[in-house]
Amino acid sequence: MAREKVVLAYSGGLDTSVAVKWINEKYDMDVITYTCDLGQGRDLEAIRKKALETGAVEAIVEDVRNLFVDIFVWPSLLTGTMYEGKYPLATALGRPLIANQMVEVAKEHGATAVAHGCTGKGNDQVRFDVSFNTLAPELKIIAPVREWKWTRTEELAYAKEHGIEVDATKQSIYSVDQNLWGRSVEAGVLEDPWVAPPEDAYQWTVNPVDAPDKPVDIEIEFDQGRPISLDGEEMDGPDLIAKLNTIGGAHGVGRIDHVENRLVGIKSREIYEAPAAMILHEAHKELEFLTLSRQSLRFKTYVSQTCADIIYDGLWFSTFHQDLMGFVEKNQRWVSGNVRVQVYKGRCTVTGRSSEHSLYSKELATYEEGDEFPHETALGFIKIHGLQQQTQARQQLLKGEPPVRRARIMPPSKNEED
Ligand code: ARG
Repeated sequence: MAREKVVLAYSGGLDTSVAVKWINEKYDMDVITYTCDLGQGRDLEAIRKKALETGAVEAIVEDVRNLFVDIFVWPSLLTGTMYEGKYPLATALGRPLIANQMVEVAKEHGATAVAHGCTGKGNDQVRFDVSFNTLAPELKIIAPVREWKWTRTEELAYAKEHGIEVDATKQSIYSVDQNLWGRSVEAGVLEDPWVAPPEDAYQWTVNPVDAPDKPVDIEIEFDQGRPISLDGEEMDGPDLIAKLNTIGGAHGVGRIDHVENRLVGIKSREIYEAPAAMILHEAHKELEFLTLSRQSLRFKTYVSQTCADIIYDGLWFSTFHQDLMGFVEKNQRWVSGNVRVQVYKGRCTVTGRSSEHSLYSKELATYEEGDEFPHETALGFIKIHGLQQQTQARQQLLKGEPPVRRARIMPPSKNEED
């Protein structure tokens, strides 16, 4: 009888390479590896070869950069999702796409299981497992690293014993994940939140101190919230993002140092590099300030925060997410126009914006000739606007404050005084 098949998310690193052999032995299954190009800049052919040498029966590599940008990155940009106001969610956006593609491969090849190399205390295991369970609940999930619970030394011993090549020079002291939307770095000395990130934690960005002394202006054109051209040159998503990563990185833009709240209940210190994401979020937000009403902007901050949590928490494929995206999609129909951004020594500053749908009215705003603001109505407006507060002051605040009664929510402890 033919062996059952499992599709393994394969990066070519130590964990997933050992996982190929380990699944072969422990589960007696054929392993098909799946590796996709999310713009992480790794040699996919070499990864394919390594998978086959390590014992995979088939090694699939796929370029999904356009899918990634169109279906995951742009919607996240339109929504303005920054987890805890800091992290542009690169890794979190990649996981549901990888899971989706792996489910497709599993169906095509008649596999009965999927597998990934995530540990048991991170967010990524949650994102993978929840996505798999949602898209194909019939597939069994194998998570070797979570199951074998080895120390690094034990893992290296297993690799040596099974002839898996370990290039010590390539073994990073950090744990890194990257795709075109950003790079994440954790572990090593970074585990102490007081320790300043060593320069070697950064690979996409120069130290702002060493960045060029001359600022550079970039003009970005947006169509319904989506970036479509740089300095007048139309580009497709992955190229536009790659170019902004290069320019931003050269000027030290995009370094993020975050003590973040993981979904699994711990705080973890992360370093991110995301030049393009930072520049595009900044520019997009400014275009919204020009084209969306005050009410719409206020409401959208709530939608942004909620969607950031949804994405971070691995609930990309939820209907609630779809519903909120319905709002965002509609809300972006006026967000077209141009934004000028200046990058300089680690900073990215918007210096100009324009749109045919602009709500900025020179006639209403000007202090010069041609003012059309209805000055005579201001007095009546102010009177009514402040009415509640005025009544409250007369009836309550100005009469003096009553003593506040304590409302406890904990029973008193034995040695408590009052
Ligand atoms: N903390 C980030 C997240 O949860 C990034 C995790 C990526 N993994 C890594 N090994 N750096 O999305």
